[in-house]
Amino acid sequence: MDIGIDKIGVYVPKNYIDIVELAKARNVDPNKFTIGIGQDKQAVPQPYEDAVTMAANSADSILTAEDKQALGLLIVGTESSIDESKSSAAFLMDLLDLPEDIRSFEIKQACYGATAGLQTAVDFVSQNPDKKALVIASDIARYGIKTPGEVTQGAGSVAMIVSQNPRVLKLTRKSVYMTRNVGDFWRPTFSKTAFARGKFSNEVYVDFFNTLWKKYQEKYSATIDDFSTLLFHIPYTKMGTKALRTLEGKIPDTKYAELTEHYQASIKFSREVGNLYTGSLYLGLLSYLTNAAQSNEELLLFSYGSGAVGELYSGEIQAGFDTIIDQNSILKMLDNRQKMSIADYEKMYQIEYQNGTIVDPQAVNSKFYLSEIKENERLYKKLK
Ligand code: HMG
Repeated sequence: MDIGIDKIGVYVPKNYIDIVELAKARNVDPNKFTIGIGQDKQAVPQPYEDAVTMAANSADSILTAEDKQALGLLIVGTESSIDESKSSAAFLMDLLDLPEDIRSFEIKQACYGATAGLQTAVDFVSQNPDKKALVIASDIARYGIKTPGEVTQGAGSVAMIVSQNPRVLKLTRKSVYMTRNVGDFWRPTFSKTAFARGKFSNEVYVDFFNTLWKKYQEKYSATIDDFSTLLFHIPYTKMGTKALRTLEGKIPDTKYAELTEHYQASIKFSREVGNLYTGSLYLGLLSYLTNAAQSNEELLLFSYGSGAVGELYSGEIQAGFDTIIDQNSILKMLDNRQKMSIADYEKMYQIEYQNGTIVDPQAVNSKFYLSEIKENERLYKKLK
């Protein structure tokens, strides 16, 4: 049975900051941020947006009434959880008007969460071929003002429906994975911002990629000629370039040039949005599908979540995928965002809603939003 991604949609907040303006405000040469890090813009969420509201927005962009009736599993991958107990998935049940006979939960493993969800969903559909699964990645990447990680922040959500006979990406079921206890990046429960050993995290990422690529070749007698495209987890767009560069000189020059060109197509959206944490690999997939992909291409996808778990797996783009993805709406959403000054971004960064907050819907610019915190419970609404 063929199983994979049948639909994919994205949500990014409606405000962004310009990376050159951020560089100037931090007294850094703008080339360091645009070339050295590889970013142009960074999505900035409003205080009424969080992992739940962004997840609802991305899922809402792809779900039909028919999909909802066929769902048997809902998984939210996030490391920006809003509750230590209740999962983001439970909040989505009424926001998205989903039927009750769904198994739903949240998965956390840094940026690997959505891939864990995706592979779990594939197993679920193989056991329940008439059912579909909804997998959502939703995160706010935060390191703090004036930290080295600030330029690698971002926010957004990617939603995917997994089913049999997928119309976007069939997963070949060829996959290798690994876990090591590594202290490269972490966010203790008391902290809104992440801590990172930045340079060390880059080294671990590249080492995981190299180790998994070796494993994949051995396990499946694969060569680089089996693939036209490598997609990477993209915390910032230079990161995937660093991993890709480790292949230079080890594979034919023409293949390296092809992979490099395709990587450029896969990072277009990330340059505009920044790190989505667990959604980053899938924003890259969407960027590639929207900007360059061809039917029947074989892709290799590298998922990495600090802490650390990595997985390298493959998929085949399905004929007609471009008729399934709402490319115009995605491009419009990116184009229609409003730039925010660095001063306004810094002010908004400090806002943290407390118990008793009631949000005025007139001031909201997102279909789903945090409407109130009452008795320390976060309550959500959909704009009429
Ligand atoms: P930094 O201190 O700014 O690094 O931190 P740098 O000084 O080495 O500069 C970065 C690059 O800019 C270098 O290029 C410089 O040469 C270049 P590279 O050697 O890397 O190729 N540069 C310039 N280029 C052009 N013109 C100039 C110029 N000046 C310098 N004038 C760092 C950068 C990424 C470490 C920092 O932003 C950070 O700590 N970020 C957060 C951690 C991170 O993103 N790690 C990635 C791997 S871990 C991961 O992917 C998981 C994650 O997504 C979390 C999860 O799983 O949940 C993070």
